[in-house]
Amino acid sequence: MEGRILDGKAMSEVILGRLDGEVKSLRRKGIVPKLVVIQVGDDPASTIYVNKKHKACLRLGIESEIKHLPEETRYEDLIDAIVKLNNDDSVHGILVQLPLPEHLSHKGVLEAVDPAKDVDGLNPYNHGKNLLGKECFQPATPRGIISLIESTKTELEGINAVVIGRSNIVGKPTAIMLLNRGCTVTVCHSKTRNLSDFTQKADLLIVAAGKPGLVKAHMVKNGAIVIDVGINRLEGGKIVGDVDFDEVRKKAAWITPVPGGVGPMTIASLMENTIRACREYA
Ligand code: GUN
Repeated sequence: MEGRILDGKAMSEVILGRLDGEVKSLRRKGIVPKLVVIQVGDDPASTIYVNKKHKACLRLGIESEIKHLPEETRYEDLIDAIVKLNNDDSVHGILVQLPLPEHLSHKGVLEAVDPAKDVDGLNPYNHGKNLLGKECFQPATPRGIISLIESTKTELEGINAVVIGRSNIVGKPTAIMLLNRGCTVTVCHSKTRNLSDFTQKADLLIVAAGKPGLVKAHMVKNGAIVIDVGINRLEGGKIVGDVDFDEVRKKAAWITPVPGGVGPMTIASLMENTIRACREYA
């Protein structure tokens, strides 16, 4: 069996096409959605992600500003910048690119973002609403993952879902969103013993560990849906996920490629959230 490709690039294009119409309709009413991304420091991967978000905004006619602050920015100054954006009526979405420099990373910066402008869904208020299964801004990557899974039309109730990774951005919210859809969810992580004992039982396997080649074919159940969230740059520049794609594809029913799977869906979901923030504000 050769698993079918879950084509995130194609699916994101459909979403962006729909959003294009929505932005045009808002603009006809004199409303211009605006996203501000705050980047602190010069992490090269962050710069690539921030530029992708910026380009997607420009393509849709969403106003986009990248607020680039120096690595040594003080906590108080970062909070001041966020509060200014909270109070700026022309700004609908605020995103603080992660990771933050070490001296800011444990300071609860995301709590400062107005929950109504938290298009990244990472403020504790939105995390909490997501946990309770209530309407809220959901983080972009988990939202994109769920859209990809739902496009397979698989009945999710009662299936075994295994999430590898326990980050606040991907692993935890994805696990919650699957639990809220009736999956039996197991969260594995770097301290999990005998990882394959869990993965071999997974009807749905989400891999967000940031480790190239972590998931091999013998770890995957026949007919599983495999979602690879990893984006790893190998020496030589090739981008690969966390899953051994060619081998695992022979066992999976569905599998996401890297690149072209979850990545473009993350961007599309962020654009959806930004336009929604604008619509709800207008
Ligand atoms: N860094 C990597 N992915 C993300 C994301 O989805 N949101 C933010 N804020 N930072 C990230």
